[in-house]
Amino acid sequence: NMTRCDSRRNGSRIIMTKRVVTLAHYYTQPEIQQMADKVGDSLELSLFAREAEADTIVFAGVRFMAETAKILNPAATVILPDAGSTCSLVTQTDIVALKRWRDSHPDHVHVAYINSSAEHKALSDWIVTSRNVDDIIAHLIGEGKKVMFSPDRNMGAYLNYQYGYDMPLWSAVCEVHDKFNEAALNEALNAVPGASHLIAHPESPLPVLKQAEYVGSTSGMLNWVKQYEGNPKDVIFVATEDGILYNMGLARPDLDLRQAPIYAGCQCNSCPYMKMNTVEAVRRAQQGEGLVIDYLSPEAIEAARKPVERMLEFSR
Ligand code: 13P
Ligand code: SF4
Repeated sequence: NMTRCDSRRNGSRIIMTKRVVTLAHYYTQPEIQQMADKVGDSLELSLFAREAEADTIVFAGVRFMAETAKILNPAATVILPDAGSTCSLVTQTDIVALKRWRDSHPDHVHVAYINSSAEHKALSDWIVTSRNVDDIIAHLIGEGKKVMFSPDRNMGAYLNYQYGYDMPLWSAVCEVHDKFNEAALNEALNAVPGASHLIAHPESPLPVLKQAEYVGSTSGMLNWVKQYEGNPKDVIFVATEDGILYNMGLARPDLDLRQAPIYAGCQCNSCPYMKMNTVEAVRRAQQGEGLVIDYLSPEAIEAARKPVERMLEFSR
């Protein structure tokens, strides 16, 4: 980890030990989070990766996150522990079709969610995360710009509904969040004898988001829980991937936190790609094994970096 950066004397030779920084997303398992130098949401981890003075960044997350780290810190060796850690928002987006869609709206600013490939980022004007998407789109629309949004249809539908926009939307979904279900949610809410609350990630379907008291990023939801001042007996349903319940429980062991249901009686929703970050895979990555993000050309990195930097500059 970061503190492993030091130099050792071996006889008369000074050996520089490599600096390995490990980043983990909130959706990874508790034991993975405990192995990390930094745990956070997509925006926090991108910023951390950019500033990291490391030879190697091990990214216990998914591939687009590791690619973003490489885009922001090209000098570092970035390793994804398991090459299979993709994201449905990426795999559901065909780049040729996306380019056609983008080209068919020449007068629009293309805002893309960070859950996208490097090629996808290069086809966009701005990158956003769930933390700053509201502010960036409000800023652009406030300047009189026409905005098109990709790839998350649920997030886009929520923004259109919440703020009265009519952004053209790309149509991919997070296969995990898209499963949250309105009928199952109502059943669960009605089964609680006392009061209940719902907080949700904006990748969830619109009928679920319409009922949420708070909609925001993983860090945003965690902060909401930390600052909760209501009755601790109330039930708080959380519509997002199950990993973050660990962080919420650590922060507020006094609260009754439950995952929102995906069907009646099932309180579970887990991202298979995040869970590929096993202890063994992360350990191996820390030794240099795994998917090294070395396939992006300097031109591809530069093209993807511009819209990401625009976001980071705005969020500063
Ligand atoms: P956050 O940016 O909110 O951490 O979300 C990342 C993600 O993949 C959600 O599914
Ligand atoms: Fe992608 Fe959904 Fe997994 Fe997040 S939870 S990484 S959006 S598949």
